[in-house]
Amino acid sequence: MAQKVTVPEIIKMKRAGHKITALTAYDYSFARILDDAGIDILLVGDSLGSVVQGQATTLPVTLEEMLYHTRIAARGRARALLVGDMLFLSYQVNIEEAKRNAGRFLSEAGAEAVKLEGGVEMQATIRAIVDIGIPVMGHVGLTPQSLHRFGGYKVQGKDKKAGERIVRDALAVEEGGAFAVILEGIPVDLAREITRRLTIPTIGIGAGVECDGQVLVVHDMLGLFDMYQPKFVKRYADLKGIMTDAVKRYIAEVKDGSFPDEEHSFH
Ligand code: KIV
Repeated sequence: MAQKVTVPEIIKMKRAGHKITALTAYDYSFARILDDAGIDILLVGDSLGSVVQGQATTLPVTLEEMLYHTRIAARGRARALLVGDMLFLSYQVNIEEAKRNAGRFLSEAGAEAVKLEGGVEMQATIRAIVDIGIPVMGHVGLTPQSLHRFGGYKVQGKDKKAGERIVRDALAVEEGGAFAVILEGIPVDLAREITRRLTIPTIGIGAGVECDGQVLVVHDMLGLFDMYQPKFVKRYADLKGIMTDAVKRYIAEVKDGSFPDEEHSFH
């Protein structure tokens, strides 16, 4: 196995100018494939609400569901850093609850860090979680748990004032002690400025090429989920097409009696 990816390694990668790669994973098989392929960070994102559970938003996902998916993804992880996503209402109510819930991702599910959304308003929460030894990844810009405030999944920080607010958020996340921050759905120039100003790595999704790393939802980039396709998603495969074709061939062979053949039968 190549060297285990740790939080200090991720921070060092920015300093060394090495791009950081991250993808979501929600179970053992996917985590294992991505880890074997050499991904640096596996994020058990609350995006599982959409791509695994078929819900319209990430908001209904529960803590027990997130812990379950983190636990089963952890079994497939050997090298990558495993980050558990703190779901809606698991960290916003008060700092004591946030600490306890963050801790459960590590003690019960095998995560090595947690991610939470928010900037200035979350700085004290980030600090409190980091202070009890739990690495935190921040997430600013288009934060999906706030979609109703934004009025939908819209690019954030397009005008000067909104951009300055996101810069303040990213700086607050860094000052809170986070080891990295996700920049989602913001213009390229703004992502560049934040990446230059922060000493911790920025990991972009819909934030352009100048971030220190990139993350995508694995079902999107593999072409497994086609309900909608944001502009920033590049399809690296058409697994839905491959799966559909395989299942159709299976159905046809069962119907016409050509499966199972001699090779797949016992005597
Ligand atoms: O929930 C998630 O998967 C995420 C990433 C897309 C950043 O937050």
